[in-house]
Amino acid sequence: MADIKACLFDLDGVIVDTAKYHFLAWRRLCNELGFDLTEEENESLKGISRVESLEILLKLGGVILTQEEKDEWLVKKNDWYLEFVDSMNPDEILPGVVHFLDLLKGAGIKIALGSASKNAMLILKKVELLPYFDAVIDGTKVSKGKPDPQTFTLGAEATGAHPSECVVFEDSQAGVEAGNRGGMYTIGVGDETVLDRAHVVIPGFENQDLKLFNRL
Ligand code: BG6
Ligand code: MG
Repeated sequence: MADIKACLFDLDGVIVDTAKYHFLAWRRLCNELGFDLTEEENESLKGISRVESLEILLKLGGVILTQEEKDEWLVKKNDWYLEFVDSMNPDEILPGVVHFLDLLKGAGIKIALGSASKNAMLILKKVELLPYFDAVIDGTKVSKGKPDPQTFTLGAEATGAHPSECVVFEDSQAGVEAGNRGGMYTIGVGDETVLDRAHVVIPGFENQDLKLFNRL
């Protein structure tokens, strides 16, 4: 079994189901700009920063905007997203997550967040999970987004673990690639056909325990 000292968790779509709120807000933006966004197209936005996501969408819709217009749409998208976040509470933590975090704590394994989101602290507070985290690396702390490994490299450093002792949990292709490039173990959370680059894929944390690491 791999000697695991730290677990680095993505937030949106791994700990809480906010991936669906990002999708709804981006789809609204696309619709208001005159085109649609499918769930499949949305897959390539997961894990990607807000600014980069807008660029991908504008290309998809063949829409050209000035920088000022882009900034306005970015504010709108985030406002729509935050309307969903505003009513979040601990019930929105994905099944099995709290139990899994408790198992890690009990085993003395460090826990860090590695998210592209600038709203991560707000969400962790809303769902009352902040006390579990030894370190939080979010969109306010990174200069290079996923698939660059920086988010997770900083997370590993903050916990004092070597990358080879870290497991990254991710629901996005970009995030799995970031973990792999950082020299960490990666566990995909979601669909194994989408997350086929991860070392192991689980559908979610329900019924999972630390024996999961035996599969790495
Ligand atoms: C990632 C999401 O966690 O955070 C992306 O998967 C999102 O969809 C990115 O664009 C940035 O989040 P935010 O909350 O700063 O817009
Ligand atoms: Mg995610």
